[in-house]
Amino acid sequence: MTLGELQQRIAEIEKDLSAELERLENAAAIDAFRIEFLGRKGRIAELFKCIGQVAGPDRGEAGRLLNELKVRSTAAFSSREETFAEIALKERLSRERVDMSLPGVAGPHGRKHPLTTVQHEIESIFMRMGFDVATGPEIETEYYNFEALNIPAEHPARADWDTFFIDDTHLLRPHTSPVQIRVMEKTEPPVRIICPGRCYRRDTQDATHSPVFHQIELLWIEKGLTLANLKHVLEVFTREFFGEGYEMLFSGDFFPFTEPSVQVHIRAPGAENWMEIMGAGMVDPAVLRAVGYDPEEVTGFAFGLGIERMAMLRYGIDDIRAFLTNDLRFIRQF
Ligand code: FA5
Repeated sequence: MTLGELQQRIAEIEKDLSAELERLENAAAIDAFRIEFLGRKGRIAELFKCIGQVAGPDRGEAGRLLNELKVRSTAAFSSREETFAEIALKERLSRERVDMSLPGVAGPHGRKHPLTTVQHEIESIFMRMGFDVATGPEIETEYYNFEALNIPAEHPARADWDTFFIDDTHLLRPHTSPVQIRVMEKTEPPVRIICPGRCYRRDTQDATHSPVFHQIELLWIEKGLTLANLKHVLEVFTREFFGEGYEMLFSGDFFPFTEPSVQVHIRAPGAENWMEIMGAGMVDPAVLRAVGYDPEEVTGFAFGLGIERMAMLRYGIDDIRAFLTNDLRFIRQF
């Protein structure tokens, strides 16, 4: 091959190359183009193989021309490829653009369980009266649950709290009263706390009993408190929580940790039956002494209020089991 023939072939390749570059339309075509012209077996590589056929003195010039062709072609191809990449990116960006003005897809809204709502409301009423919120463990020791509350082993009153024992000394607390002791042990009087929490009892399930339920304990220890203060606090509280028209009934009861002890029932407007909502009383001097308080100096009262029962009265629910069955038709009403 002469140098002139080679130059002619180079000119042909360049003509085809620029014509095809113009026609390139998509990524697949780009690839085909690269293989045809710049690939290992492409037209330019094939032409390199012809250098050997060029007469010796012209070979240097032939190599230079071919190298130049290769550089030019590669540069032209790269710039076209870049243009393509830019166009593709722009297309993608416009395709994937998020239209912020479109209305969003609304997911389902969660809401508070009625027991949570009631608990929070009760807490907020007492917090406004100046009570702090305290908590204690659901797995309790026999000491805090019974002994410190003036219920020694073998005391018949233990049977009033039919308890799930975990081992010889640990149990699932059947009431929130042990939190009273835990707080008094760490605090000098005056004490003014409420303690909401979950309780467990081996109670047979029925419309007003569940083996898992919630109580709110209240404890107020100060100089000079009497049963009249307890009654007043309860009257203010029930009026705040239920509004007008709910009646409250006090009757005598017995708890080893209060003396005297009372039971409180509430009746919804127009209802026939009373609902027992709490046990309460003046804190027994023996309990005060056990935590290092002087019963001659301070007195106080406490109660344990059932949250489920309060929610039943408030919403007119006649079966406590509805709170635990997770039936959305029930839950969505609140
Ligand atoms: C007590 O648990 C005492 N600790 C209350 C107390 C505290 C008295 C402080 C004096 C001073 P009682 O067992 O009566 O008392 O329970 C209190 C309230 O918890 C009941 O009135 C009821 O509203 C609720 N309750 C008790 N057992 C269940 C149950 N199985 N299911 C739902 N609510 C219950």
